[in-house]
Amino acid sequence: MTRAYSVLAESGFLSARQGSAHLASLPIDHHRRGVGGALLPGTDTDSDTLDLTCAASRAPAGTIEAYTAALSVLPGYLTGTGYAIGGLPELRELIASRYGQRGLPTSADQIMVVNGGLAGVSLAARALIGVGDRVLAESPSYPNSLHAVRRCGGRLVPLPVEANGWDIELAEATIAASRPTSAVLIPDFHNPTGNLLSDEHRSRLAAALRRAGTVPIIDETMLEVRLDDADHPLPFAAHLARAVLVGSASKSHWGGLRIGWLRVPPGLRSRLAQLRLTEDLGAPLIEQLATIELLRQRFTLHPERRAELIAARQTMTELLPSAVPGARWVQPAGGLSLWVELPEASASALARTAARDGLLLSPGSQFAVAGGLERFVRLPYKDPAPVVKEAMSRLGEAWQRRHQHAEPGARSQPRPVVA
Ligand SMILES: Cc1ncc(COP(=O)(O)O)c(C=O)c1O
Repeated sequence: MTRAYSVLAESGFLSARQGSAHLASLPIDHHRRGVGGALLPGTDTDSDTLDLTCAASRAPAGTIEAYTAALSVLPGYLTGTGYAIGGLPELRELIASRYGQRGLPTSADQIMVVNGGLAGVSLAARALIGVGDRVLAESPSYPNSLHAVRRCGGRLVPLPVEANGWDIELAEATIAASRPTSAVLIPDFHNPTGNLLSDEHRSRLAAALRRAGTVPIIDETMLEVRLDDADHPLPFAAHLARAVLVGSASKSHWGGLRIGWLRVPPGLRSRLAQLRLTEDLGAPLIEQLATIELLRQRFTLHPERRAELIAARQTMTELLPSAVPGARWVQPAGGLSLWVELPEASASALARTAARDGLLLSPGSQFAVAGGLERFVRLPYKDPAPVVKEAMSRLGEAWQRRHQHAEPGARSQPRPVVA
């Protein structure tokens, strides 16, 4: 028994306290890895730095058990080659069943498992976008998807998204005028604004895209990060059958799984499968097996995680007015961030000052399709409430001193947005 206690204490799962009491906890300090944000090469942070550039949370309860269960079934797969190019059939069945639950009948053949949502967007972009093609994208948007489109030679056509959502008439006009080949859209708790596109507006957007002959890539990575109770709109492909949907377990469960998927319209299946053969030949089996375990329990957020995020969002919205007087935002019903409008266009100066105070921020310009958005900053509430509280206190100090370090410098470039 004593030995068991000391093993737990050594590995950081138990802290000794005064008297005989012990406290069970998740390991802290040197036992934790990647707590600041992403483990991005060359951007190590000390353990005191609060990293708000990565909108992602730690693994929920049950993750270790899912991996343990995955290991216990792994032997059955070891006699095979281990290559599951489109994903394990059981996983594809499960994912297809979720689309059915959401009102979009789907067969397992339409699902291709990939290494996370970004890999899905990137693969679909390779399949759909050629050099010089116009591609509609929200501005702001998730920057890595924009980079993926640019890498294919796509020319981005920005569709402004405001704090309170899409201007659907402007979207219809932009689509009619530009007739884009493809589009990269995030209708479900849009990153970074958190907006949710209503069914009525999905249907109007789908009709405009249909008229223009556009095949959109619909990024549903944030879909299951639902914090407020409300009916969720239908998947976009229920309005436009040719839409490619991209899903991910990164935000509903854990980014370390690196599991995502595509829901592909039948006409695109063989092209995507061909392209996949030049990419990575499949996702790791152990993570696919662990994801099966996790999705069998729930597709949605773990209730503890949901409660934690709701509390963190509340803490942030309570403290933000005194940290940055005059800041404005619309509280999102889901997702992991507030998209905050500052009283002046100084987000980059604020981020540089905050970095010196141990708080890393992503200024709005990092999410813009074609520059601008300097009035905005994305603030993820992905950490427990006490950490959010400390972050808001550092933010308040940095806001007061934001003009002290206003000179831009190569060394103070904002950290790339990972998630
Ligand atoms: C809209 C969106 N798409 C894709 C990703 C990347 O997801 P994954 O970790 O599954 O690759 C993110 C991560 O934040 C995201 O917000």
